[in-house]
Amino acid sequence: MKKDFLTLLDVDAGELEALLAEAERLKALRREGRSHALLQGKSLGMIFEKASTRTRVSFEAGMHDLGGHALFLNPTDLQIGRGELARDTARVLSRYVSAVMIRAYKHTTIEEFARYASVPVINGLSDIAHPCQVLADLMTLKEHFSSLKDVRLAWIGDGNNVCNSLLMASAHTGLDLRVACPPGYQPPQWIVEEALSHGARLTFCKTAEEAAEGAHAIYTDVWVSMGNEAEREARLRAFQGYTIAAEIVNRAEPDAIVMHCLPAHRGEEITDEVIEGPQSVVWDQAENRLHAQKALLVRLLH
Ligand code: CP
Ligand code: NVA
Repeated sequence: MKKDFLTLLDVDAGELEALLAEAERLKALRREGRSHALLQGKSLGMIFEKASTRTRVSFEAGMHDLGGHALFLNPTDLQIGRGELARDTARVLSRYVSAVMIRAYKHTTIEEFARYASVPVINGLSDIAHPCQVLADLMTLKEHFSSLKDVRLAWIGDGNNVCNSLLMASAHTGLDLRVACPPGYQPPQWIVEEALSHGARLTFCKTAEEAAEGAHAIYTDVWVSMGNEAEREARLRAFQGYTIAAEIVNRAEPDAIVMHCLPAHRGEEITDEVIEGPQSVVWDQAENRLHAQKALLVRLLH
């Protein structure tokens, strides 16, 4: 049976732990300049309905490191852009490539693709989940705190795809999530319930200050995600008071880290001072996309 990776609930706690250990191993091998061509002869098709810097380049560079090959497929150049169904494209691409990564507006597009593909399908971001990002985030947290259990992570801002994936990650790791989102921008109730039913630890906080109090990590993301551009003005109003500024960081533990999946909008969800400051680990998070996704590719394809 082929395995997909559409959300973090597609792996169990043990598999997640093994993935993170493999990511660490691959990171060390790369740093030492040692070959790890584990996916020779394998190829990855990458479909991006939306823009990407990190996901695109880390998957492509990652496949190269592993001795394989990646193809960037712009949907406007594929027949999908002229109406060919996702399910037909899935069956055809499955005859050519070893796995497909998709970044799509709708999670249901990726689910349909996965249903019809006979090769593994990876979610490279959808409206409801960004599991590859959170793999890298867990790796980054582990680098700082060794164990993820009881690490208190404050999510401050939009209850979006990245937040949803952190909720699912909490179910497997014992991460203690404190979530502060403005009214109307909390993660969807069904995702909260699903994560809780798998054992997630979650406290909703009324303010950014409350969430940051005693946190080991503070995490934020853009207020206007891709696809939400029409809501920009309303969102900027709603998120006032949710900027990660020094006053918020100072409420956390003295050795707390500050996280952002990037791209960042300085002066909106985070100040320039904080993202450039000594507690920021955003570049490590971005780097760890490469190592975590390589571990995922090896797990799905080796
Ligand atoms: N964090 C992230 O997924 O970045 P990109 O949109 O650049 O891929
Ligand atoms: N929440 C953001 C993440 C970008 C990597 C978005 O969906 O645009």
